[in-house]
Amino acid sequence: MWTLRSRGRFRTLGGLCYHATPMPSITINGRRCDFSPGQTILQIANANGLEIPQYCYHDGLSIVASCRICLCEAHAPNPKSGQLEPFMGGKLLPSCQQTASDGMVVYTNSPKAVANQKAVMEYLLINHPLDCPVCDQSGECFLQDYSYQYGRGVSRFEEQKVKQPKKDLGTHVYLYADRCIMCTRCVRFTREVTRTGELMVQGRGNKEEIDIFPGIPIDNELSANVIDLCPVGALLDKDFLFTQRVWFLKETPSIDPLTASGDNITIHHNEGKVYRIKPRVNPLVNKWWITDEVRYGWKFVHSEHRLRSPLRKQYGVAVECDYSRAYDDTVDGIRAALHQGKRLAVMVSPMLVCEEAYLLGTLARTLDPQAVLAVGPVPVQGEDKTFPPGDPKGFKMYAEKAPNARGVRRVLAAIVGEGNVQGYEQLLKSLGGGTGRSDIGAVVLTGNYPSTWGTDDFLRALSGKFVVLLDTLSSGLSDRADIVLPGATFAEKAGSFESARGMIQAFEQAIPVAEMAKVEGQIALDLFSVVQGSPAVADGVAGVVVQSTLGQVAAATQVVRPRAVMYSAADVRREMSGKHASLAAFAAVASPDPAPQRQPDMPMLDL
Ligand code: SF4
Ligand code: FES
Repeated sequence: MWTLRSRGRFRTLGGLCYHATPMPSITINGRRCDFSPGQTILQIANANGLEIPQYCYHDGLSIVASCRICLCEAHAPNPKSGQLEPFMGGKLLPSCQQTASDGMVVYTNSPKAVANQKAVMEYLLINHPLDCPVCDQSGECFLQDYSYQYGRGVSRFEEQKVKQPKKDLGTHVYLYADRCIMCTRCVRFTREVTRTGELMVQGRGNKEEIDIFPGIPIDNELSANVIDLCPVGALLDKDFLFTQRVWFLKETPSIDPLTASGDNITIHHNEGKVYRIKPRVNPLVNKWWITDEVRYGWKFVHSEHRLRSPLRKQYGVAVECDYSRAYDDTVDGIRAALHQGKRLAVMVSPMLVCEEAYLLGTLARTLDPQAVLAVGPVPVQGEDKTFPPGDPKGFKMYAEKAPNARGVRRVLAAIVGEGNVQGYEQLLKSLGGGTGRSDIGAVVLTGNYPSTWGTDDFLRALSGKFVVLLDTLSSGLSDRADIVLPGATFAEKAGSFESARGMIQAFEQAIPVAEMAKVEGQIALDLFSVVQGSPAVADGVAGVVVQSTLGQVAAATQVVRPRAVMYSAADVRREMSGKHASLAAFAAVASPDPAPQRQPDMPMLDL
C-alpha cells in the first residue's frame, strides 16, 4: 500500500508528479504487516488476523498492560547503521502497549516469548477453580482457549487454592470472584465509558478481588457490557445463567429492534428459542456496546401473551379461525366500508421493517386509492444520552423507543407523497376521536410493540369502524378488533430499519415464526392475492390446490386458492428501489454476513 507524501520516492499519478513513500511496516512472526503511525504491535496483529494472546487489552478501553500474556520479543533498525538490533536491550515488551516503528521485527513465538506465555498461564491458573463443566463461560472462555494453546498442560501447584466468594453485583451481573484474572477490563469500563465507577479492585496479592462499593450495586444503562468484557467466567449474566451451553447456540446478526439507535446485535438462539442478545462491533454505530434495554428487551418474542392464530369476531366474541376465512373477512369488511363511501386508513407501526411498510402501503392504495396512510405511535422515554457523558463521539443511547419511524415514514411518503403521511395524533383526529364524524370506515392497524399499546382515546376513536389488527401481543386492541392476524417479531423476520443516524441496515430471520403467526409482509402479500383473486406475481401457476378444513366441509374436499408470493425482504427492496426514486438507496442495502457457526472439534457420541 502506498501513501502520498511530500518527501520520498517520485511516483506519477494521473499525469501529476507526487513524492510517494511506502506505508511503514513491521514483521510479526515472519509476516509483513503495514500499519498507520501510532498503532501498537497488538493492534497491528489483530488487524492482520495474527493471534497474540491478550486479556487486559480491549479496543474500547485504556491500555494498562497488566496481564503480561501478550509480551513479545522485538528487534528494530538502528537509526544510524540501519542494522537490526534487539529492541530495549532484548527485554520482553507488552505488545498491547508498545507502538510499532518502521522495520521492526517482532516475535511472539520465540522461546523467550513462549516461556513467558506458559509462565503467565501457570500463574493465572494457580488459584483458578477447575469448574469448567459447571461454568457458564465454558466454550467461550479465553482462559480455557489460551490454556489449551499457550499453557503447560499440567499443573505443578499442590497447595490449597484461595477461595473467593460469589457476589451479586447488580440487577444483571453475578461475580464468581475466584475465576477472576484481574484484567480490570470491567473496572475500566465503569470508569471510562459509563463514568459511574461502581466497580473497583480491593485487597492485595492473592486476596485481590473485584468488588462494588458497599451498598452501591452496578446499576447503569450499559451495566451488562462488563459481562461481555470479562474474558473468563467471573462476571456472568443472571438472565443467561445455566440456561444453555454456548456451543449449542446459533448466531444471527441483527439490528436493535427496540430503539432508534440502529445498534448492531447478534441474536443467540437454539431450536427456535432466543437465549441472549450480544453487541456486534460496528465502529460507526454502537462501537462495542449495547444498552441493557436492548440486551434484555427481547422477552416478548416468547411471551405467553403472543397472538398465535387468526381471530375473527363471531357474535361479539373473538374466535380462532384459519387464514383463508380471516383474509376473506378482512377484504369483505374493507370493501363493505368503501361501498358505503368511506375510506380506508392503514397505520404502519414504527416497529415494522421498511419492506412491510411498502407492502402494506401499496396494498392500502390498491384497495382504496384514497386510503389514509399513517405512522404508528413512536414512544419516547427521557432524553438521548451519550457514554462517556458529554462526549459527542461516544456511544449514544436514544430516547426514541422504536427502531424504524424514519424508514416507515420514508417508504409511505414515497407512495403517497411527503405531506400526506399522517402521524399518530393526526390519525386520531382523522378517525373522529369517537365522535362518529369521520370519513374513515375501515382501519388496518399494525403493532409489534414489546408491550401492550393503544390508549383509551384510540380505542374510543375506533368505535363504529371495521378494524383489522396485525399484532404480536394480545391487548385491549385485539379484543376490540374485528379481525386479528398474528404478526411476527423482529427475530422471526428479515427486513431493514432506518435508524436515527439515517443509516438503513438490513437483517435476516433468526428463528421460525411462532405457531400460526406470520410475518406482516407475508400477510400483506397474502391479502394482495385475495384482493386480486390471482397470484400476485405470475409464475406460471394460476393457483394451488389445498385441502380445505373449513366448517363442516369434509377434509378431502379440494378448493383452489390463489397462491401468494413468498415474502422475501431482498426482493421487496429491489422492487421498491426500482419503482420509487426516493427509495433508490434500498437497492444497495444488504444483510450482514452470517456469523460463523461454532463447529465442535471433537467427535460427538450418541449416548
Ligand atoms: S471480573 Fe472479569 S473483567 Fe473484571 S477483572 Fe476479573 S477477569 Fe477481568
Ligand atoms: S494484553 Fe498486553 S499486557 Fe495484557
